Amino acid sequence: MNNDFPLNVDRIEDARANALIGRKVVLFKSTASTNDIAWEYAANPSGHGLCVLAESQYKGRGRRGRIWHSSPAQSILVSILLLNQPTQAELLTLTAAVAITEAIQMFCGLGCRIKWPNDILVNGKKLAGILVEKKTIRQQRHFVVGIGINGNQPAEFFQGHDLNLPATSLAIETGQHIDRTELVCILLAMFEEWLHKSRDSRTIIARWQQQSDLLGRHIIVESDNRQYSGFCRGIDPAEGLIVHLDSGTVQIFSAKQTSIIKVEA
Ligand code: BTN
Repeated sequence: MNNDFPLNVDRIEDARANALIGRKVVLFKSTASTNDIAWEYAANPSGHGLCVLAESQYKGRGRRGRIWHSSPAQSILVSILLLNQPTQAELLTLTAAVAITEAIQMFCGLGCRIKWPNDILVNGKKLAGILVEKKTIRQQRHFVVGIGINGNQPAEFFQGHDLNLPATSLAIETGQHIDRTELVCILLAMFEEWLHKSRDSRTIIARWQQQSDLLGRHIIVESDNRQYSGFCRGIDPAEGLIVHLDSGTVQIFSAKQTSIIKVEA
């Protein structure tokens, strides 16, 4: 596979000229983490909606201290800065998850599932991940929504890394080299649309439920070094995953402290 299609900032800014998210885009050839760059713009009110892209990251981070692996010029590595938002990180993670699945469906027709809280799966393999970070500065809540999507990586790329889930890329799944710039344009449009809809969290939850691979299934989760088993009953936009435990009680698990250990058939 070659890398015929470099990311094109002008194309993205043209496509987003009348929008909020992605009207201003900065692209780095290489950086530690696009989330860090996005935070550097947080002091400037005009940074709201800024989109930071990189062709390569050397300290890409994932949830719970994990490393996000990417290969130069083959991934989509994007961070969106949202200033002074009356929302929660959990709801923004759901919003990004729904936006990614819709963008990928629109881009290449692939159906994705959302593995709570932040994994996007295709055919049971991880295609994308989300890392939402929050900072409160002078009583205002600011967020960076970091999204990594595997674009043109060949299968060998994933074999060389120790991953918590088997991984895949759009090129592997579609058999085609993908135009990452086109996907970024669609992703930003979908994110803006769902960000708007997320003002009513029920809309996001309803969509999440259609694409969740957990709802109604018997699962085992680990939280604060303890394991719990029960049926997933839904999601609370502020609190987390609602599980009807085998012991009979209903418990809500926050995304920060919880990992899904097993999803039973
Ligand atoms: C995860 O699956 O745990 C989340 C992965 C998030 C990766 C993206 S890539 C762009 C942004 N910059 C980072 O350092 N992380 C996010």
